Amino acid sequence: MQEKGWSREELEAALREAKRRDMSYGSGRILSSMCTTPHRAGVEAFLRFLDTNLGDPGLFQGTKELERRAVGEIASLLGSGSAKGFIVSGGTEANITALWVARELSEVRKPEVVLPETAHFSFEKAARMLGLRLVYARALPDSSVDVEDVRRKLTPRTVAVVGIAGNTEYGGVDDVEALSELAEERGVYLHVDAAFGGFVLPFLGELGYRVRRFDFSLPGVCSITVDPHKMGLAPVPAGCILFRGEELLESLQVESPYLSMPVQCTLLGTRSGASAAAVFAVLKSMGREGYRRVVEECMRNTLRLKEGLEELGFIVREPWMNLLVFEHPEADVVGELRRRGWAVSRTRRGEARVVLMPHVKREHVEELIEVLREIAP
Ligand SMILES: Cc1ncc(COP(=O)(O)O)c(C=O)c1O
Repeated sequence: MQEKGWSREELEAALREAKRRDMSYGSGRILSSMCTTPHRAGVEAFLRFLDTNLGDPGLFQGTKELERRAVGEIASLLGSGSAKGFIVSGGTEANITALWVARELSEVRKPEVVLPETAHFSFEKAARMLGLRLVYARALPDSSVDVEDVRRKLTPRTVAVVGIAGNTEYGGVDDVEALSELAEERGVYLHVDAAFGGFVLPFLGELGYRVRRFDFSLPGVCSITVDPHKMGLAPVPAGCILFRGEELLESLQVESPYLSMPVQCTLLGTRSGASAAAVFAVLKSMGREGYRRVVEECMRNTLRLKEGLEELGFIVREPWMNLLVFEHPEADVVGELRRRGWAVSRTRRGEARVVLMPHVKREHVEELIEVLREIAP
């Protein structure tokens, strides 16, 4: 570290240069991310609560109440008036927390988790940290998990099954209803990763799209990951982990003697009250109607892109939600788009993957179709 502090001008120049090198959501060129421009109400609340620490909630009882209310709102969106949980840093922390609970509740030696092969890599982190063996079940051609393969892979060592509502690569939604029945039948913990789909599927359903059930209305579902910092429009970092009942969380209690509360259940100690306040502010500002409108627009853009791509001879997968996967038999689509400044991702099978987040507007979609017209031979 340098001896003397910088002047405001020196600092400003460094920050401006960093910002200049970043991509911006406003450009409409970020098609690879599940995050987006945060809602203004969330940004304002975040700034107001920047100094709060929910690791020490006795000091910040007002902020703790905002977290409780935000969690309650998300739980009611996901089929439960009574689920309990926390605003966490994101999907990774939420998934780790869920598998931590599942492992704590069992007394199995060499515990295993059966999960779809489409699962996000956060489960690999969780497994390494928690000493779990991951047993992958195969995906069907539509990218949802083959429930019969899940059944075949259950053993007496299985401590949890994972279902996904909006998988990272394809947006696919597992047959959580069947997984719930299986979990009940076998007495095994079922965690649903709805990090992306949790703020999409309920609204698609309300808009009249046919969607699979995935939430607490299914009796076998023990916990759900859902990320406000994805389609929930909250500023980063904001995830949410929900448990069907408070008793599930008790297995995580650690004594926190020198703080304002006697026990703590979260993975993080000091944790952001700003995130909780921001989630609360966005949920209250948007309401169901606001989210429904956002999801409707994202879906309209997704279907317009699909139509444009098909006219140009691209092979397009049927979208589950606002995420489109496509390829062209004669073009390196991802390479060509990246060369032209569009951030797109490649699936493990080599297809192009774009997420039609709220910052991707209709004009960006039309521009993209024109670029793809040049790319397609
Ligand atoms: C389905 C799913 N689960 C979990 C995660 C991890 O979330 P985060 O990056 O917020 O930790 C992602 C991230 O894209 C995801 O798509």
